[in-house]
Amino acid sequence: MQSLLLLLQLWAVSLGRTQGCVGNSECCGLRELERTGAWLSKGSPPELQPCHVSPQHRTASEENTELQCQGRSHGPPNSRAISPWRYREDCDNARFPRRLLQAECLCPHCVSLDPPHRLDRRGNSVQVNASTTVYYQRQCPGRPKAFYLEPQLYSVAVACICVVPRS
Ligand SMILES: *[C@@H]1O[C@H](CO)[C@@H](O)[C@H](O)[C@H]1NC(C)=O
Repeated sequence: MQSLLLLLQLWAVSLGRTQGCVGNSECCGLRELERTGAWLSKGSPPELQPCHVSPQHRTASEENTELQCQGRSHGPPNSRAISPWRYREDCDNARFPRRLLQAECLCPHCVSLDPPHRLDRRGNSVQVNASTTVYYQRQCPGRPKAFYLEPQLYSVAVACICVVPRS
């Protein structure tokens, strides 16, 4: 029982520590800031990847920009959607998560569900936005080697949907 309590206590202390860099009264060093930032960025797989252009990323975004406004019956949901979209990398090294993906609609209108999935001008592609909390790295006043994380709401375009135009 006692060791269980001790374990719980240790766990609570470690939780407290991981959140230690959040807020302007919580200055910490770069290493701890990185650790906290990584922990705060968890849970959204693509956003875990570092924010720099590696050859692999370049290939992915090149393929991405080749995506045109057209209906497809293969590929991931963003290319098979009747309001297809691609992902643009939104990178900021002074932010956690450093890498976010922003949806961009490929068509002003939509594509038909019927093969060969031609343009259907009856619908409009509309971007759907969501708010998420990001953390900006800030320097602590008068302490060049100390930093804190400032939480801010941030808008992320998650997908495009096909809507009936307003009448
Ligand atoms: C999402 O944000 C974009 C750009 O700010 C805006 O044009 C669009 O209308 C928003 N989407 C919705 C559904 O509000």
